[in-house]
Amino acid sequence: MKRKLEGAFRLPKQAHQPVLLKDVLSYLRPKPGHMVLDGTVGSAGHARAILAHIGPKGFLIGLDQDQQAIDRAQKQLEQVGGNFILKCSHFVHLGNVLDSLNLSRIHAVLLDIGVSTEQLEDRERGFGFRTDGPLDMRMDPVTQTVTAAGILETKSIDDLTWIFRTYGEERYARGIARKIVEIRQTHPIRTTTELRTLIERLTPVRRRFGRIHPATRVFQALRIAVNGELDALKEVLPRAFGRLEVGGKLAVISFHSLEDRIVKHTFLSWKKDGSGEVLTKKPVRPDSMEVAENPRARSAKLRVVERKS
Ligand SMILES: C[S@@+](CC[C@H](N)C(=O)[O-])C[C@H]1O[C@@H](n2cnc3c(N)ncnc32)[C@H](O)[C@@H]1O
Repeated sequence: MKRKLEGAFRLPKQAHQPVLLKDVLSYLRPKPGHMVLDGTVGSAGHARAILAHIGPKGFLIGLDQDQQAIDRAQKQLEQVGGNFILKCSHFVHLGNVLDSLNLSRIHAVLLDIGVSTEQLEDRERGFGFRTDGPLDMRMDPVTQTVTAAGILETKSIDDLTWIFRTYGEERYARGIARKIVEIRQTHPIRTTTELRTLIERLTPVRRRFGRIHPATRVFQALRIAVNGELDALKEVLPRAFGRLEVGGKLAVISFHSLEDRIVKHTFLSWKKDGSGEVLTKKPVRPDSMEVAENPRARSAKLRVVERKS
């Protein structure tokens, strides 16, 4: 059940409004003194609001596997309070981070998974097809070694087809995979523009100018493959749930139907065994105003579970 937020708080409007912020707050209900972990702190859009709610007696732990995000979050959170800690870490390690802080149970966990606007817009990171850059796509360029270009250079036609079809639901998966393998004999595809142009050429004209750019799905699929995003999600959910107080809440925002399915089924398994209550009977979606302001929010889905035992 979605409840109205108590109290009022004001924070200056940010360059990018965090996705589904009001809904996240009204489900998580962060209160003064609460301990909250944001496993994907990004530019701290959600975290700033949470920090303002938990007040000086609360404590916020922010994780991100991207050091650039941690640096941005630090600047944002300092403006709100000092009762937080940020760690550059993959979220599957949240248990180690909490142990190192002597925190066994906390009140809430938020995971807003996927890529941030800042990452998408940074051409050097290679996440976006709208700017020219190296096909990199590693969220943690320090420890990860496999890049998107590396995948395109080494995987077989079958593997590439599987990646594009499974992670991107790309209808021309095999044709695109075949072309990549053919071209790479003489010229490996190393930049976002090269890949985008190849996909555009292979897309029938009638599909080239739709609501969604034809390269969207392949780029998304490569990002999911490079960062092992689905396995990471499967791993982190029980770890996060296991660290909640009874009555504590886990909120997950996902942007992909495969991710949402993982979240939905995991939450339902906790409902079945009596350990959790699913607070969102259906996933919460952004309204048309939010989508108009932030088109990236269009596929966002929020699900929240409360720990019962
Ligand atoms: C959609 S953004 C989060 C935006 C954030 N909620 C805000 O309001 O600014 C996702 C962030 O999660 C990070 N991320 C993605 N997967 C991660 C993982 N497995 N562990 C830690 N951080 C991750 C990305 O680096 C990115 O900064």
